[in-house]
Order: sequence, then structure tokens, then C-alpha cells
Amino acid sequence: MLNIALPKGRLGDQVLSLFSKIGYECAAIYENDRRLVLESPESDVRYLLVKPSDVAIYVEYGAADIGVVGKDILLDSAPDVYELLDLGIGKCRLAVAGKEDYAENREAVLRVATKFQNVTKKYYSSLNRDIEIIKLNGSIELAPILGLSDVIVDIVESGKTLRENHLKVLEEIVPVSARLIANRASYLFKNDLIMDIMRKLEEVLSL
Ligand code: PRP
Repeated sequence: MLNIALPKGRLGDQVLSLFSKIGYECAAIYENDRRLVLESPESDVRYLLVKPSDVAIYVEYGAADIGVVGKDILLDSAPDVYELLDLGIGKCRLAVAGKEDYAENREAVLRVATKFQNVTKKYYSSLNRDIEIIKLNGSIELAPILGLSDVIVDIVESGKTLRENHLKVLEEIVPVSARLIANRASYLFKNDLIMDIMRKLEEVLSL
């Protein structure tokens, strides 16, 4: 049986619909209960419902053979996995944002609130800019509003959260989309199965 780590939530729903199209549906998912392991005996796969930021960990350690995760998380945590395919869903971007009237003071160390510490460090070090990172786990947009940070580095999808909090994108860092990843050993030992899924997904995506 192939173990697939699915990100819970919005992205997970889109991934499931993609996997259903290639014959890996799982009726149990629509029962909306609290189970975290859902078997699909008809297609010989088991879906593991995990927090989006944990997908790569399950795959890296082999608890899942494959999984779907955002490029933002791959860039930040650099897990030791194979990145197989861009699924073209969950599209957004990592960006620097700040208050609508933000004006940078180049003399001072820039305080940046984010949950993407590594991407942020790399980005500002490429600009030779001294920063102090304030690590938050959610509602990052609050930080500049309250003066906790000067700017934030975060995901922007529709831009609604920024707009409604009187913030704006200051710089784009990188575009993001969901990627199919595989555990390195599983890729060797379950290669036929994984390649089959990959080929079918490629087919569906090119339609
Ligand atoms: C993410 C992200 C932004 C928001 C962007 O937050 O951190 O806050 O989505 O989406 P938008 O541009 O379409 O408004 P999420 O909903 O994952 O919650 P979080 O604050 O807990 O990170």
C-alpha cells in the first residue's frame, strides 16, 4: 500500500480532487469525521491527513511515501526528499509586506516578522541587509500593525488579508505552488507505483 501525506485544509481538497481524477479516490474522506488515516482499498493507497507544514517531515522520514507540499515550505525547511512535479495548484507568492505608508530606514536593523526564517535570512543576506527576525506562527499581519516588526515575510494569495489590514506588498520574493514529493527510498522501491501516479498527474495537468 502506498502512503500519501495530504495537507489538511484548502490545498488538501484540491489535491484530493486531482488524485480522484487519476483513479485514486477515497470515499472515506467525504465522511468528514476526525480520522487521520483513511484507506482507499479500491485504489490501494492510504491517505494521511497532516498539517501542511508537516507533510515534508512525514515524507522525509518515510512515514509517507509521497506527499503534496507548498514550495514555500520546501524552500524554508529544505527536506531531504525528491521533488517530482509542480501540480500548479495552491498558487501564491512569498512576499515582503508592510504598512501602506511604510518608509524604510536604511540606517536601522530591519525587524522582520515571519514563519519562514530561512527564506527570509537568505533573501536579506542576498541584499546585504541586516535584519532581526521575529518568529511568529500565524496572523503575521498583526506584527507591523502593532509595531512589533517593520515588515513581514509571508504568503500572499488573493491579497485580501493585506488589504483588509491596510498593508501592501513591498517586494516579491518567489512564486509558490504545490509540489509532489517522494521519500528517497520509496522512490526506489515503489518506483513503478510512484511513476504511474506521476505520469497520470502529468496527463491530467496538461489537459
Ligand atoms: C495565509 C497567510 C496570509 C493569508 C494570505 O494565512 O499567512 O495570512 O493566508 O492569503 P490572502 O492573500 O488570500 O489573504 P493562513 O490562512 O494560512 O493563516 P495563518 O495566519 O495562521 O498563517
